[in-house]
Amino acid sequence: MARRVSLLQLLLLGALAACSAAAAASFDQEFDITWGDGRGKIQDGGRLLTLTLDRTSGSGFQSRHEYLFGKIDMQLKLVPGNSAGTVTAYYLSSQGSAHDEIDFEFLGNVSGEPYTLHTNVFTQGQGQREQQFRLWFDPTTDFHTYSILWNPKHIIFMVDDLPIRDFRNLESKGIAFPKSQPMRLYSSLWNADDWATQGGRVKTDWSHAPFSASYRGFRADACVAVAGGGTRCGAAVGTEGAAGAAAPAPAGDWYNQELDLTLQQRMRWVQRKYMIYNYCTDPKRYQQGLPAECSMQQ
Ligand SMILES: *[C@@H]1O[C@H](CO)[C@@H](O)[C@H](O)[C@H]1NC(C)=O
Repeated sequence: MARRVSLLQLLLLGALAACSAAAAASFDQEFDITWGDGRGKIQDGGRLLTLTLDRTSGSGFQSRHEYLFGKIDMQLKLVPGNSAGTVTAYYLSSQGSAHDEIDFEFLGNVSGEPYTLHTNVFTQGQGQREQQFRLWFDPTTDFHTYSILWNPKHIIFMVDDLPIRDFRNLESKGIAFPKSQPMRLYSSLWNADDWATQGGRVKTDWSHAPFSASYRGFRADACVAVAGGGTRCGAAVGTEGAAGAAAPAPAGDWYNQELDLTLQQRMRWVQRKYMIYNYCTDPKRYQQGLPAECSMQQ
């Protein structure tokens, strides 16, 4: 009897581990609030995280895991009302001066005026690949899902499952692509009124503080860096124990995912309608000419 119970427990544990690998995870298991002296809080049994900003400080958190490729989703509800001067950053980044980084940044605005969604990709310390968008909804009244699909061939930015940007791997044409440095997920809410809103002309109105942004519905289908090198991909967690297999399981479909024709057309449509800045159409920034990928992927 005792044996059967423990076997059952093992199976249950295995099943739970398999679920938690891909299913919505709890914020206390996955993240650490790293700064802000109590201004970041995990609430609602780990299902909700809030960051706040006041005159003294902003706040931020980071993932416990480092990822080397993954499909990472987060639902955000941004600072409502007069959010001018505030920035909510949500990004993947590795460490060091030659770091890789994949950025979403939300630049606040005065009441009634639209947020700017800023995106960028850094490879080996080299960024300057900004594209900015308007959103087709008010990002402060409800939660919306912002996703990064990062696999060996693409970095795809998505908003509510609609692709807005596809940074392709063009290594074969001599353009670096992030693919060997594991990245952690970071987010922060901070004051950037020296530049963020209308080029720094609009300052943060502290009479509206504290400002607050909320997060829920985190999900990572990802390959996680493990101690001593290498990675373990989502599907492997849980099945490993049950099967007793040491071989790593393959990652999920996201690993080979690209945009089919329909999604490419939808992305082009979003870009035509909502893109407000594209580094590839801003030649005056570059003395040596536009970055090489601009002639290949736009
Ligand atoms: C704020 O609103 C103004 C006016 O609509 C707009 O020009 C600007 O791009 C918006 N966003 C930011 C971050 O300033």
